Parts: sequence; structure tokens; C-alpha cells
Amino acid sequence: ASYDMGGHDTYMHKEIHEQADAVDRVLRGRIDDRFSTVHLGGLNLDAREARQIRRVKILGCGTSYHAGMIGAQMIEELARIPADAEPASEFRYRNAVVDPDTLYIAVSQSGETYDVLAAVQELKRKGARVLGVVNVVGSAIAREADGGIYVHAGPEVCVVSTKCFTNTTVAFALLALHLGRTRDLSVRDGKRIIEGLRKLPAQITEMLEQEEHIRKLAEQYAEVRSMLFIGRVRGYPVAREASLKLKEVSYIHAEAYPASELKHGPLALIEPALPTVAIVPDDDLLEKNRAALEEIKARSGRILAVAHQHQEKADETIVVPKNEDELDPILMGIPLQLLAYHTALALGRDIDKPRNLAKSVTVE
Ligand code: AGP
Repeated sequence: ASYDMGGHDTYMHKEIHEQADAVDRVLRGRIDDRFSTVHLGGLNLDAREARQIRRVKILGCGTSYHAGMIGAQMIEELARIPADAEPASEFRYRNAVVDPDTLYIAVSQSGETYDVLAAVQELKRKGARVLGVVNVVGSAIAREADGGIYVHAGPEVCVVSTKCFTNTTVAFALLALHLGRTRDLSVRDGKRIIEGLRKLPAQITEMLEQEEHIRKLAEQYAEVRSMLFIGRVRGYPVAREASLKLKEVSYIHAEAYPASELKHGPLALIEPALPTVAIVPDDDLLEKNRAALEEIKARSGRILAVAHQHQEKADETIVVPKNEDELDPILMGIPLQLLAYHTALALGRDIDKPRNLAKSVTVE
């Protein structure tokens, strides 16, 4: 496909900058202020069926899997249904137990990823209910699923996914809110989440205004050989996705780890040559995360914090606008897309078509 670049040098840059509009689109027409809930017409799941769900299993690959990790946390937090995400590519090969009370959700930008499609087909053979959280309308996974949510990110051309990731996390916030409101999520909390969702487009615009600061940071980090990304609970999938983004587009080795696991091994790697990007949201884990920064600093590690307020222990901080705790992962990923982009740009990489990768992997 060839779409207008709209004055941007790469599709990746264009797509990063389209995110405020894209998020506006995924929200449009779906919020119901009267009952502090959302309408998701394509779900094909009534309130009674929604209440019967005992578990949620989310399947996707790469970036879509990471968006699913965030989605699983949102569903657990807001709907109090046990939920987890797994790479579809693993799930399909392990003869998983398929449970009739579990809601399965397949996540895919293209809707054509073979590993995801094969997992969906196997689930359906075993009588499971499968929803799709998909970007491309009418794609194979969307057609195969029993219902679902279109994420309306618009066409994504760059091989590296950015705006679709963000929109998918917002789509999951809508689903979590919907499932929550059929259960024990109060009207008041429903309202709080809706207000948070409505703030997102303006906060994305505010975040993107820091591009120059992030560009300068990326130039400093472009010469490193490897980078560590850490986060705890809500911050962990953000770290995973940021690490994948950097690898794909800059070819710099990156590894993501739960901040809580540092002391169980990776602390041995810390030295000035291995910088750490730490995701530090202002939530109830802030003090724990600060302690992790101290551990790294005590071993002369260089730290870039992505946080809601300046972090003293970090060498640099990118300050992200604060939203409701449950929605924080949505915004925290955005500066890290810019970091990956500008690192790749500084290294002269082929940003829209990284070596060895294809936009959708439609083969085994
Ligand atoms: C994204 O940056 C990657 N190129 C890749 O991980 C991708 O997310 C994955 O292949 C899944 O694609 P899909 O969302 O189209 O199913």
C-alpha cells in the first residue's frame, strides 16, 4: 500500500504522530455516559454470558501480544476476572487445555498472522468462544472470531507497529470497563475510567511535544550495544514492548525484565556500559520502583526513567502525563516509540522496513 506521507520522512514517524486522532476514533460512539459503561456492538456477548466468564486468555504475537499483556491486567483490575496473555505462537503448539468458561481473545493488527489464526481455528474446533481485537476490517482473524472489537487505528504501513499498539490497549480498556460494569465495577469507577479515557488524545499530543527532548536522548544512547528495560506490574508490558521496538528498528540488543526480578540475576549485568530504561508510574508501587533505581545507581548503572515526575536517582527523566492508574500503560509506551525511532534515525536504519521482518507473518 502507498499512502500519503503527509510531510513525514517515514511512515513510523507519521503513525506515531497520528495517535491522538487514532485514539479518538477507537473511543468514538462507544461511551455511554448515562450508565458509565461502553457499547461494543460487535462483541456478540450479552450481560448474562459476560457474567459467566471465569477466565480470560489473550493470544497474539509480538507487539499485539504485549498489548494483550496490558489488556489482561486491565481486565483483572477492572472486571476482577483472572486474565493472562500468551504468545499465540506458543499456545498453538502446546496442546493447551481448552476450557468452556474461558473467554479467548485473539489480538492482531493485520488480522492475518498465521500463528494467531491457527490458534483461533484450533480453539473453535474445541468449541471455545473466541473474540478478535483486530485492526484490519474483514481480515481472516476478524472473520473467524465469534465477535470482537475493531481497534480503528487506520492503515499502519510501517513494519514496526506503533499506533495500532496504542489503540489496542485502549480497546482493551473499553472491554475491561464493559466487563467490569456487568460485574462489580461501580458507577463511580466506571465514570472515573471514562474521564481518563477522554483525556488520552490531549495527553498524547502533550507527550509528542517532547519529541525534541527525546531525540536528544536517543542520540546519546545510539552508541550503546545493549539496553535493559525494567518495569513492575503495569510497567512490565510497557518495558517488554519498548524493548521489542528498539530491537526491531535500531538493531540494538535490548532485554526487558520485571523490576522485581533484578536481584534474582540481571543485577550482575549492571555497569556504566549497560543503560537501563525504567518505567516508573506514580502508583502504589512507586517506592518499590525507586528502590530498584537506587540498586542500579549503587552499581554505577546509567538510568533513563519514564515517569510521572522527575526521578532523582535517574540520569534523565521523560515525564509522562498522569492518567488513572489503570490506564497509565497506554501513555507510557509513546515516548519509548519515539526513543526507538530517533535511535534508529541516528544510526541510519531502514526504519519502515527493518531487515529480516515483514509486516504480517502469514506463513508457519
Ligand atoms: C510489530 O512491531 C512487529 N513487527 C510484530 O511483532 C507484530 O506485532 C506481530 O508480527 C503481530 O502482527 P499482527 O498484529 O499483525 O498479528
